[in-house]
Amino acid sequence: MNSYTHYANWIKVRQALPSRIRIGFVPTMGALHAGHVSLLKRARAENDFLVLSIFVNPTQFNKAEDYQHYPRTLERDIDIARTYEVDAVIVPEEKDLYPEGNQMPIVPHHPLSQILEGKVRPGHFSGVLTVVMKLLQWVKPHRVYFGEKDFQQCELIQALVRNYFLDVEVIPCETIREASGLPLSSRNQRFTAEQLPLAHRFAELLRSGSFDDLGAIQRRLEEAGLHVEYLETHFNRLFVAVECHGIRLIDNFVIL
Ligand code: PAF
Repeated sequence: MNSYTHYANWIKVRQALPSRIRIGFVPTMGALHAGHVSLLKRARAENDFLVLSIFVNPTQFNKAEDYQHYPRTLERDIDIARTYEVDAVIVPEEKDLYPEGNQMPIVPHHPLSQILEGKVRPGHFSGVLTVVMKLLQWVKPHRVYFGEKDFQQCELIQALVRNYFLDVEVIPCETIREASGLPLSSRNQRFTAEQLPLAHRFAELLRSGSFDDLGAIQRRLEEAGLHVEYLETHFNRLFVAVECHGIRLIDNFVIL
């Protein structure tokens, strides 16, 4: 397994891959966990050549503090990549992905980019779609894998692929959860042992009553000490974002 920081080095490898080789791609911001591993395993099983990218993308953070504190565990991530038989790891530097700065962002007007995460984190989806477009141009994969924990992100990336006629199959993958129901997330690694129980409590409280009364769920979450950013239903799914000990948690799942 080799890792690549510069486009010029990577693209030589990419261009040398025979066209019959199917390339699977898992883009991440690192701090890999079992959710990412499930994507890697699936992509490994479904493709001949597996590419992982690790890049904490500054343009998708709307708070500098969130970007600074985003967990970075590169050495451990590289070990995980080796364990799950990744063929190439791309670890770009900011100047490699944004050689002219962020001068050509993709700015979505899709209705899904205006609600929930799009509403509370202005510019977030522009940053995500811009970096995903860049990474897809680097890797030119046949299939790209994303977790459904970021449901809006998955849907908007599918819209990006449709609207720009990109020749790649987007594969949304089921959210991986702890026993409490808490979705795995790189940000969970920021909780101390004393803080973690409240994150699990969040997942339990969400599931502890009727979804017909969102006001009651919100009250329970707030009484437990969580700050609710949104709690809404769309497309038969419950979407929620809270702040737990100053760390953002998001989730969504189907409610029948
Ligand atoms: O889901 C993520 O980790 C990021 O939003 C992504 C898709 C890697 C873009 O930076």
